[in-house]
Amino acid sequence: MAPSKPWGAVRSLLVLAPVLILAPSIAYWNHKTLPAPLTELTDSVSNLPQISEAQILGFAKHLSEEIGYRTVGTEEHALADKWMVEQANLIKKQCEAIVAETGRKLECEVSRQEGNGHHRFDMMGKRLYKTYVNLSNIIVRISDGTEEGKKHALLVNSHLDSTLPSPGAADDALSVGVMLDCMRVLINTPGWSPVHAAIFLFNHAEESLQDGSHLFSTQHPWAPTARAVINLEAAGTTGRELLFQATSEQMIEAYSHVPRPYGTVFANEIFSSGIILSDTDFRQFEEYINITGLDMAVVGNSYLYHMRKDLVENIEVGVAQHMGENSLALIKYLTSDKSSLAELADGAKPPATVFLTYVGRIFVSYSYTTAKVMYGILFWFTLVVAKARNKSAHKNVFVPEQVDAAIAVCAGVAGTLIAPNVVAVIMRNVLNKSLSWFSNPFAPLLLYGPACLLGALISQYRSVEKVKEKTLWTSLLAMQAGIALALQLANIGSGTIFFMSALPLTIVFVLNPFFSQDPKQISLVTYALGQFFPVLTASLLTIPTLEVFVPLTGRTGAEAPADHVIACIIAVVSCPGFPLVIPLAHRFGKRALLRGIIVTSILNAASIAYFSARNPYDDMHQKRLFVIHMENVTTSEQHLHLAASDGAPGFELLVNDIVREFGTLDHAPAPVVMNDHNSDWDSLYPFSAPIYIQSYDPRFIRGSCSLTQGGRGFSASGDISERWRFLTPFKVPLAVPAGYASPWVTEKKFSISAIEDEKDLVAGTRNLKIKIDHPGLIWTVIAFDAHVLKWDLDDNPPDEYARHHVKEASFYGTNSYILEMVIKTSVANPDGKLLINYMGLQEKGIWPAKKDVKEEGDAAMALFERLDDWLDRTTGGTVDALLMGDVLFVVMDYWNPAHYDL
Ligand SMILES: *[C@@H]1O[C@H](CO)[C@@H](O)[C@H](O)[C@H]1NC(C)=O
Ligand SMILES: *[C@@H]1O[C@H](CO)[C@@H](O)[C@H](O)[C@H]1NC(C)=O
Ligand SMILES: [Zn+2]
Repeated sequence: MAPSKPWGAVRSLLVLAPVLILAPSIAYWNHKTLPAPLTELTDSVSNLPQISEAQILGFAKHLSEEIGYRTVGTEEHALADKWMVEQANLIKKQCEAIVAETGRKLECEVSRQEGNGHHRFDMMGKRLYKTYVNLSNIIVRISDGTEEGKKHALLVNSHLDSTLPSPGAADDALSVGVMLDCMRVLINTPGWSPVHAAIFLFNHAEESLQDGSHLFSTQHPWAPTARAVINLEAAGTTGRELLFQATSEQMIEAYSHVPRPYGTVFANEIFSSGIILSDTDFRQFEEYINITGLDMAVVGNSYLYHMRKDLVENIEVGVAQHMGENSLALIKYLTSDKSSLAELADGAKPPATVFLTYVGRIFVSYSYTTAKVMYGILFWFTLVVAKARNKSAHKNVFVPEQVDAAIAVCAGVAGTLIAPNVVAVIMRNVLNKSLSWFSNPFAPLLLYGPACLLGALISQYRSVEKVKEKTLWTSLLAMQAGIALALQLANIGSGTIFFMSALPLTIVFVLNPFFSQDPKQISLVTYALGQFFPVLTASLLTIPTLEVFVPLTGRTGAEAPADHVIACIIAVVSCPGFPLVIPLAHRFGKRALLRGIIVTSILNAASIAYFSARNPYDDMHQKRLFVIHMENVTTSEQHLHLAASDGAPGFELLVNDIVREFGTLDHAPAPVVMNDHNSDWDSLYPFSAPIYIQSYDPRFIRGSCSLTQGGRGFSASGDISERWRFLTPFKVPLAVPAGYASPWVTEKKFSISAIEDEKDLVAGTRNLKIKIDHPGLIWTVIAFDAHVLKWDLDDNPPDEYARHHVKEASFYGTNSYILEMVIKTSVANPDGKLLINYMGLQEKGIWPAKKDVKEEGDAAMALFERLDDWLDRTTGGTVDALLMGDVLFVVMDYWNPAHYDL
């Protein structure tokens, strides 16, 4: 079967091509396979209740469309609360009817929690305090009705609220629907009775920085009984629900019981490394209840995450079914007598298992110990093979030959990393075409893939005809197995990726004599078989990685080197799937390699040309634009603030156009410097972004392609905004109509006043209790400089003069809060005077959330309507703008009535 004379390069590549097409196709098909959606509530054959996608999406649609944008503090948010209480009570009634009829051991309790609290919530390297008033949670506990059964409970969480710019169908109304449907199936399953209780928490303030889960964790009487949590989230609208955090051995074991697993140790390790700060409610449960759990989310098509188009119609068919069936299985298992909940009361075992979902529904898991033994044996075996295969070689040539081959392999790795980054420099700095691939997560493969190949080929030019093809093989095997072992010895489970490549390669290499008539030659069959699994593995990893990271580059800030991040991902995740490129580069001699380099260079030039003509955005892959209409009631000025959160070119041109159309200037002013003392964007401080927004450190990625980062995010001391501006803001003055009297002033709608104010001249302190009133305003922020000695926000304010930001979130109709503190006076400021920047968002001033009641908004809404329409027309629907009407108020020495009276 094998040719007696080796084939030429072109013919050989044609023979290998099917493998290179088949393996990624299998991976893609596998990735896209979702369960068939069910409509009926009961299986018509077994007559048992079943998860119904139609039912789940019905709930999600009600919340996201009939109720609408459920931003904390708005009227819609209050409506969602009311609806949820009704749903919970319906479940309870159903439950009671079932118990009355069957006498089953089942109890459903409903609790609506309401409360106030404070918490420190550091984010993106910023120290930040949250204070919340009258926020609520709706909780259903299903148990067998006994004290014993309620002792160790499983917590299941999702959030009812949605973020500022989004109706939140997938995030997180979908999960709310999933939980409701799981409850229906459980209580309607004949004979089902939980050994351990399940607490279903519908928390009603996640997007305001996890206030709801904080409230539950710190104040609800059931919270201390929770032993583990299942958190259901979304940062996208398509694909299987991904398990991205499993924080203990017990939880990994529990996950192995789901019908359609989708989780890998890679995702787990990437998230726990902190490169993607997974800021979900999970953080509160870990911090305040100290429990382990599973954090799961829908992550495909993350372009719609926190956008207007996060709608039910954009949730892929089968997603709800997948999420529902997996969640149900987990709840059933963890509340059964096989559950580890009771054992978790004594603490969780840290993860020490390599786990992954390969093709299909197979969940592979093995312990770190097994991994070490397996990788160790493989490494040893690759060394034996290397020695045996080169037995003809003289002893004192064997080592130098292996070393030369190892150097060639390392050069290949270096070439694969460098070339795509050179292309990124060309796109970003030379051609000014950043993010040109943005609208398709797989497009970057076309841009950086050929570059990887070119780098690999060029790197081999020096050593071609000096190193033997076969020695390169043995060297590759030993290096991959060695890296797998080394990583595993460092307890990094992701080392399995190298094992998964080295193992099939070693097997086919050993079998090569069966494929090749000339034992000195490596058969093309060996290449084809050898390449299959590495390409498949790399494709399985590349698809979700790009699906998550490419949309993410649209919200990581203008200065994040997004092009390099994506180039590195392809170099590190995708290209290692083609290890045999290196021996192949040597197979056909120097002239063939040179020709290969020329052809690949032409390919590269062609793809660069194509991408420089490509538009990064389209109507389903939009640019995010942040717009604030700011009314400064202290200066009587009005401004339009505009910001993007990506580095694609053309933003300044867009701003110019907006300024000409709506502003009082004829061109855009220079971008504004963002720092802690610029309060214009305090409503979004430090940019509210609960999941996937990374506390990204440019120093870190610039130097290397390594994607791991030591700690979680930044230390609180560094000023991130100087190194990395998340938003690129422009401030445009607006014309204020003559004789305009702001209702915020004339009606004295908001104010800060002192309830108590005592100075202690001896101690040099000032004791304050201030009341912040904010009728009509939500998400207020106060920022001030002071040396705080004590306050009610937490127990250890920094012992120095510093700037503080306090963000508030309250239930609709709750219009004030109180802050108590003791501050230190100084020689320069003996009275301990304060200058407070106070800003709030008009509850009726959010576009498009409040479109239906636009008449009730003021000047801001009228402008937003025109601006939004104008944007849609001029950009062809490629921009999603969040338009917020803010009111800013600078309060000086508020205790002095002369100043306090505006
Ligand atoms: C949290 O739980 C772990 C066991 O899972 C225990 O070792 C640790 O001390 C606990 N931490 C706190 C602050 O209670
Ligand atoms: C909180 O809500 C309750 C009613 O649920 C209300 O009586 C109370 O005044 C509210 N608190 C504030 C500070 O508005
Ligand atoms: Zn969410």
